Amino acid sequence: MDHFLLSIAITLAIIIKFLFKYSLAKPKEKLPLAPGTFGWPIIGETIEFLVSLRYGLVHEFVQKRTKKYKSNVFKTSLLGQNVAIFSGQEANKFIFNNGNKLVIGWRPSSIQKLFPSTSFVPIEHDTKRAQNVMSYFLNSQNVDSLISTMDIMSHLHLENYWKGKNEVIVYDLVKLFTFSLSTRVFMGIENSDKILNLYEKFNIFSRGLLVMDIKFPGTTFYKAMRAGKELRKEMKAIFEERRVELQENPDLPKVDVLTKVITEQDENGKYLTEVEMADKLFGFIVGGYDTTATTITLVMKYLKEKPEFFNGIMEEQNEIARNMMPRIVLCWDDIQKMRKTWSFVNEVLRDTPVVQGLFREAIEDITYNDFLVPKGWKIYLSFGVTQKNGEYFPNPTQFDPSRFEGNGQLVPYTSAPFGVGHKICPGREFARILILVFLHNVLKNFQWEAKDPSEKILWPYFLVPIPTAGYPVTLSTV
Ligand code: HEM
Repeated sequence: MDHFLLSIAITLAIIIKFLFKYSLAKPKEKLPLAPGTFGWPIIGETIEFLVSLRYGLVHEFVQKRTKKYKSNVFKTSLLGQNVAIFSGQEANKFIFNNGNKLVIGWRPSSIQKLFPSTSFVPIEHDTKRAQNVMSYFLNSQNVDSLISTMDIMSHLHLENYWKGKNEVIVYDLVKLFTFSLSTRVFMGIENSDKILNLYEKFNIFSRGLLVMDIKFPGTTFYKAMRAGKELRKEMKAIFEERRVELQENPDLPKVDVLTKVITEQDENGKYLTEVEMADKLFGFIVGGYDTTATTITLVMKYLKEKPEFFNGIMEEQNEIARNMMPRIVLCWDDIQKMRKTWSFVNEVLRDTPVVQGLFREAIEDITYNDFLVPKGWKIYLSFGVTQKNGEYFPNPTQFDPSRFEGNGQLVPYTSAPFGVGHKICPGREFARILILVFLHNVLKNFQWEAKDPSEKILWPYFLVPIPTAGYPVTLSTV
């Protein structure tokens, strides 16, 4: 009997709890949207945002509003989209850790139009594929061969374009070098006329990535779309050439991205279409050549502006050069020893981030700091605000590479030039090696002086930071 009464009491308790939860309880109140303004109709706050992007001042655009709204997430409207802008270490952690759960990558419509396959290939598939391809180059069997190609090509480039010149424009030359290296390593192209032809077109193409997608003759976006069309035609011929090579020699190893995209099949045995193949290759080239060229240029500029670090870096590079004798090309172990140089590069990227922030899309309603970010909204994560925050980087305006010298003082999720988490830049290790190999060759062979020590840095086309005149320098051989 006791048992019977007890089971009735438990059943009643469960029913009451259920009723209370689902019918008697007050309906859950919807959280408010983050504070902020959508700005002007249609254009929202796009113009102010793009101006700050161009001048490398997105952190100021964000800081002004986080102070005003007393919140490190606020709403706005950019590029015709409702956007929640996040900043700060906690926000970096939240967004990077929730990749694929609450947020996915998002590409503005200019990018979607320039890469047509992105409208039907989920962005996360591309990330995975790109990471797989890069891990092929960087595995322990292939990495030394990649480093030796980079070293030999750096040497040849400097012999052909720098040696014997009194003056060079650093950015223009380094960009041509990183492009030539990318086409060689990713597609096996070595013919210099072919490279120059592709280079011209890729430069026009990539300028259209982040501009307003107004397809009217004369606009940057129109020219980019036209260059994309011409590039796809060229790619068709390149694919055909490689297919013939592969048919004649089926054992040709999968040495580059081109062979990989041609031979790759999905789980149903389906090959990529030509549009998809071209987009994959364009992604690697566009993602890689300008970002690395601009980083090398900025590092050379900072080395002259912060001479107190120059000798330490020269010592490190000279020691590596001495110890590698009689070997003449760099290898993986040499790259690992370039710690001081890499810390310097990291501090340059903290001070002048090559990528100022990232876009994502909310795939569910998100609650953050008691605010709602509705499903479908876009998210912009600003890196600059965190990288210039004195709480994480004491004396943030002071240039100090020792912050990155591995004493465990760096707070996780505060410095993220390549992103963090499942969408982290697939080319980050490739970029590290390339930047270090090229700098090693420049430092070993040349001295330079800026022609205009007060040359400013801008983000023309909103993409990467570039000294306004491309950093012209006078040159002498060591
Ligand atoms: C200093 C040089 C570089 C910087 C600062 C940089 C930075 C970044 C960042 C911040 C992202 C976005 C990550 C995210 O969404 O969370 C990214 C994506 C990407 N990067 Fe890099 N990157 C550099 C060099 C390279 C190189 C050399 C390559 C190619 C070899 C490359 C290929 C890519 C690709 C393909 C993506 C898009 C991946 C996707 O679809 O999710 N990057 N990069």
